[in-house]
Amino acid sequence: MAKAYLPEGTKVPCHVGVIMDGNGRWAKKRGLPRKFGHREGAKTFREITRHAKRLGISYITYYAFSTENWKRPQDEVDAIMELFEKYLDEVRDFIDENIRVRFIGDRSRLKETLQKKMASVEEDSKDFDSMTLVLAINYGGQDEIAHSCRVLAERVKNGELEPSDITPELIEQNLYTEEIPPVDLVIRPSGEQRLSNFMIWQSAYAEFYYTNILWPDFKGSDLEKAVIEYSDRNRRFGGV
Ligand code: FPP
Repeated sequence: MAKAYLPEGTKVPCHVGVIMDGNGRWAKKRGLPRKFGHREGAKTFREITRHAKRLGISYITYYAFSTENWKRPQDEVDAIMELFEKYLDEVRDFIDENIRVRFIGDRSRLKETLQKKMASVEEDSKDFDSMTLVLAINYGGQDEIAHSCRVLAERVKNGELEPSDITPELIEQNLYTEEIPPVDLVIRPSGEQRLSNFMIWQSAYAEFYYTNILWPDFKGSDLEKAVIEYSDRNRRFGGV
């Protein structure tokens, strides 16, 4: 059911994916180092999450750090990781708002203190149900599918499964997004029109919305625009 911010009858997507792009360009335009763009981007993340809840979105997933982002200069990677740590403490405020927090991606390469904080935030928020906030950190869609295939291959090796038993459902059950529904709407700011390895399995039937606004400038009203456009589209899921 659409909330007051949206026209009567708006179909609100259940799961929205966000590719937080344009932080570097936002900083460059102001003659600032890239990390300042990420700092502003992190503030936008906080505002948009709260607004998504007001709009009645049930799941929101942010692409915060990809498996390819390690190739960036070390000081930029360090700055992003520092922001995570800071926001993981702040994410606790979301818990007070009844928001569940989940992480997807390969955690093994992250600092141990960060991994511990992630696990404790997930544990402490596991029973909350007003909205689920998913953060994709060291995440790559291809990497995730390969991970699921390795789990299934082990089961075949152990004689628990026949290769012919492998179905899309089984692959899906072993993705990081277990119990998280498919993505309905992917939002990418900053003018790029690519998925960039973001939830490629889960976005198979997602609508795509892009805008030239850079992520640090993205506002609640921009999220509303994306939801309204989504609502106006006619999704057929391969049918007619
Ligand atoms: C893409 O913009 C952004 C990132 C790779 C990092 C996003 C990370 C944050 C906003 C930091 C904190 C996140 C949380 C969840 C607290 P870009 O740097 O590729 O921008 P550009 O295309 O303009 O260079």
